Amino acid sequence: MLTLSVNGQSHPVDVPDDMPLLWVLRDVIGLTGTKFGCGIAQCGACTVHLDGEAVRSCVLPVGAIGQRAITTIEAVGNTPSGQKIQQAWLDVDVVQCGYCQSGQIMSAAALLQRVPNPSDADIDAAMSGNICRCATYVRIRAAIKQAATGKQELLQTLVSEPKGAAP
Ligand code: FES
Ligand code: FES
Repeated sequence: MLTLSVNGQSHPVDVPDDMPLLWVLRDVIGLTGTKFGCGIAQCGACTVHLDGEAVRSCVLPVGAIGQRAITTIEAVGNTPSGQKIQQAWLDVDVVQCGYCQSGQIMSAAALLQRVPNPSDADIDAAMSGNICRCATYVRIRAAIKQAATGKQELLQTLVSEPKGAAP
């Protein structure tokens, strides 16, 4: 029996140590906001925070987590950086199909927590492992910058662009 700290609550779980965290979150605890994409740490859909750091839950065995705090998309809005990122996502209207977006938001919130005013290079480094089949990359970048600066002027350059324009 393991006890996981998820979104500020203790969850005793009777699972094998080598079960990936993603399976425990979705199928045992019932938090389905975190998505399965590739299962091999290549797409970022399953991103959660471990002590505030973005990790791929599809390849993280629960037995390796210990007492570290897990935060998922269901609770990231309770953190200052997560709140800013989620509001910017709404303001910029980032989402298309939505499948990748919980992972995108988790990576972006971890970046903003670590680097309050990220450069383009910082954003590229933090977000390059999060794939979006709908190609929302331009809006993701704009939303991260808006969350960091609080300025909305960046949006004006997007008004005439179709959603899904390639980065
Ligand atoms: S499902 Fe984990 S990185 Fe793709
Ligand atoms: S919004 Fe559809 S995959 Fe990213």
